[in-house]
Amino acid sequence: MAQAEAIFERLKIDHDKHRDLLDRIEETSGESSERKELFELFTKEVKSHAAAEEQAVYSTMLRKPETTDETRHSVAEHHELDESLNDLAATDMSSSAWLQKFKQLKHDYLHHIEEEEEDHFPDFEEKLTAKDEQEMAEIFERRKKVEKEQAEITPEKKSEAKE
Ligand SMILES: [Fe+2]
Ligand SMILES: [Fe+2]
Repeated sequence: MAQAEAIFERLKIDHDKHRDLLDRIEETSGESSERKELFELFTKEVKSHAAAEEQAVYSTMLRKPETTDETRHSVAEHHELDESLNDLAATDMSSSAWLQKFKQLKHDYLHHIEEEEEDHFPDFEEKLTAKDEQEMAEIFERRKKVEKEQAEITPEKKSEAKE
């Protein structure tokens, strides 16, 4: 069996997939089936990534006093991301507001993953053993699969979308 991918490399592979999906969604228009499909794909992918990332990595980093602050910061951003995705799902896809909200989400999420890659992951790696990382990789694979199956696209009603 191939060696499990190192956890932080694994997370970056997901991030690159997300960057690609964000670019592709931005090129779609109106309430097209392409926009619908890509947005669903992105939502399931990103929600399950963030949840599995918290369960596999952030739960441990939160317990270490040196990384508590940066972990809390990132988890708070995951929560904001969830809210933005839910709001976007409740917004009329053919309206200009949708694209405007999407562009804001793209900007915020790109900032989030860049910060993880440039600041957080290198700090985390210093505090972990190879065994810790191996365990994190296993938990991430297991949890992402389950979270993806359970991810919701439209938990909010259209009437609850922000103005
Ligand atoms: Fe994240
Ligand atoms: Fe991430």
